[in-house]
Amino acid sequence: MTFSSQTILMCPPDHFEVAYVINPWMEGHFARTSDALAHAQWDALRNAIAQHATVVLEPPQRALPDIVFTANAGLVLGNKAIVSRFRSIERRGEEPHHRAWFTENGFEVLDWPEDVPFEGAGDALFDRGDDILWVGHGFRSSAAVPELLEKVLGRKTAPLDLVDPRFYHLDTCFCPLAGGALMYYPAAFDAKSQSLIEVLVQPDKRIAVDEADALKFCCNAVDLEGFVYMNDASERLQGQLRRLGFTPVLIPLSEFMKAGGAAKCLTLKLVEG
Ligand code: ARG
Repeated sequence: MTFSSQTILMCPPDHFEVAYVINPWMEGHFARTSDALAHAQWDALRNAIAQHATVVLEPPQRALPDIVFTANAGLVLGNKAIVSRFRSIERRGEEPHHRAWFTENGFEVLDWPEDVPFEGAGDALFDRGDDILWVGHGFRSSAAVPELLEKVLGRKTAPLDLVDPRFYHLDTCFCPLAGGALMYYPAAFDAKSQSLIEVLVQPDKRIAVDEADALKFCCNAVDLEGFVYMNDASERLQGQLRRLGFTPVLIPLSEFMKAGGAAKCLTLKLVEG
């Protein structure tokens, strides 16, 4: 089975907490999240998304607090899915649950080598204008991933080297938008990757955000039907998005920021062509 109209996978934050530190955002936040606020914020995001797409849920799992970040369940293209192979031991227990979910929901789960870390749609983002798959590596996904994805999915990839540990997944600093537009934080990438982005995306379609906006996780946005849902963004950035025809919508996600995630991390688009 494949879904006919846009469908988004989310996972309720029933067992969400900061229980370990695997990125700089989690430091100092051990057991510091509020359950009630996390649920309220997640519900607000879910309700917003449900205005544009069908939301389907993956069951939450005790002792796997980060499973709420379904962007890392895997990568989907058509009816094929690659299940994430997590770099950190703390998240590896999620893999069988994600595999079961994709299989039960009719996806063909592709083989992936045991020893190549790949964190799914956290690090692999489809361009919304061209047939390119942008792939981040350096912190979580291995440098071998872009070439491997090209082979396995038959889709041209553009490898991007991440260099700032605060932006450890590609979706924390890079957000392809409809029509080939792009919102991104240039300093999160090495010089070669910055040049590649500049070659592949026309200047009038590129929004380079500053550090203050990047730290609000503005690039970790969900774009649906012209709306761009994000934790927070400056007036200036909101204006830039509006000028390109998008409508920014702010949904505070402070509790998930403590784990190093925001809107996009909490979702996985299940219809990718
Ligand atoms: N605590 C999680 C981790 O470090 C956050 C994952 C955020 N997900 C994302 N797609 N950026 O793995």
